[in-house]
Amino acid sequence: STNSKKNADGALEVGGVDVRELVEQHGSPAYVLDEADFRARARAFKEGFKGFDVYYAGKAFLCTTIVRWVMEEGLNLDICSGGELAVALRAGADPRRLGFHGNNKSEQELARALDAGVGRIIVDSQYEISRLIELAKERGVVAPVMIRVTAGVEAHTHEYIATAHEDQKFGFSITSGAAYDAVARVNEAPELELLGLHSHIGSQIFDSSGFEVAAKRVIALHARVSDELGVDMPELDLGGGFGIAYTTQDDPSDPAQLATEMGKIVEHECRAFGVDVPKVSIEPGRAIVGPAVCTVYTVGTVKEVELDAGASRTYISVDGGMSDNIRTALYDADYSCTLASRYSAAEPALARVVGKHCESGDIVVKDEFLPSDVIPGDLVAVPGTGAYCRSMASNYNHVPRPPVIAVNDGQLRVVVRRETEEDLLRLDMGAE
Ligand code: LLP
Repeated sequence: STNSKKNADGALEVGGVDVRELVEQHGSPAYVLDEADFRARARAFKEGFKGFDVYYAGKAFLCTTIVRWVMEEGLNLDICSGGELAVALRAGADPRRLGFHGNNKSEQELARALDAGVGRIIVDSQYEISRLIELAKERGVVAPVMIRVTAGVEAHTHEYIATAHEDQKFGFSITSGAAYDAVARVNEAPELELLGLHSHIGSQIFDSSGFEVAAKRVIALHARVSDELGVDMPELDLGGGFGIAYTTQDDPSDPAQLATEMGKIVEHECRAFGVDVPKVSIEPGRAIVGPAVCTVYTVGTVKEVELDAGASRTYISVDGGMSDNIRTALYDADYSCTLASRYSAAEPALARVVGKHCESGDIVVKDEFLPSDVIPGDLVAVPGTGAYCRSMASNYNHVPRPPVIAVNDGQLRVVVRRETEEDLLRLDMGAE
């Protein structure tokens, strides 16, 4: 994160807090959250995207503290489950500033969203439209709706996180006519208020070309339905997906810059199609919280493994792994890391940082040059772990999930505490 540096001892300091002290007080591993960095990235989107709305995508990482920061910085919040809704409401979020996603929201989730007065519900299927009509009718309310459409774009990212090609579960296809039909139906239902169209093409995207194609197709649909059906849609959401650099090899593109470009694209396309420019919104998650967090681990063992042809690899085992960061195993993601507890003059050697879980795919950092004298007790920090790490963490092997510790101006504050073994046993009905 922006506010991290090595101090005179060669130890990592984040937000003015020495990670050695943080680990002494709160144990290891720990997610270290740089508050000023998070806020600055949120603000950069808000300012780069002037006049538009920015919804922070809570799926990247959410807790009540984050909800408050997001609201304080003037952003809205994208939630995608009853659980995320509960966190947002508990934090005192203004429900009108919430957007509710999901391809299979339950009746209870939709009912809670309506009862809470959530600002927009992004519908994803005909079944969901039916459910929402029923629920709104029962309550005598009008549900504010956006329609998730599939723009048919091949986003250049990992298959599991691309979402706008045709053969996947999300949205109404523009090409097949399903999106048109959904617009017509929502538009006619007195229980629903049609706010606009929603497109999310995928995640960890670096160039604006995918967004541009998607915006073109979505605005073409927008123009067609306003022409043929007289539909008036005041809003348009182009989703999230702004990529971040995980290693020094990655493109360090400026996501706020990308957002600014998107605003221009929308204005241009609307003019070309002769429709009023709707209020545009985006939903960045990763680009706001990803770089704001690093995970600090303690080294437990170091092992030299012989490879073919006399080569060898150093395996450095740390006290976490795929339970606190599944991304390497799931997406073949690349991370980097650094020795965080001291200065070392030793020659750098190629190492692989692995976790403590019972499978060989439990890799934290595939390849990194670390000083050759790394020993048990050293701290290793992995930057860029703010997004989809704590939020996708598990208790695999009954390992308690690490805390999230916010640092700022030399102060630290636990915002999510470490799980205990008692927490793990609490649901076990056979435990005494
Ligand atoms: N809006 C919608 C409708 C989404 O589905 C997502 C992400 C976002 C916004 C935020 O995308 P972001 O700006 O964070 O890329 N677990 C995967 C990423 C899955 C993304 C799911 N949807 C990963 O670790 O890379």
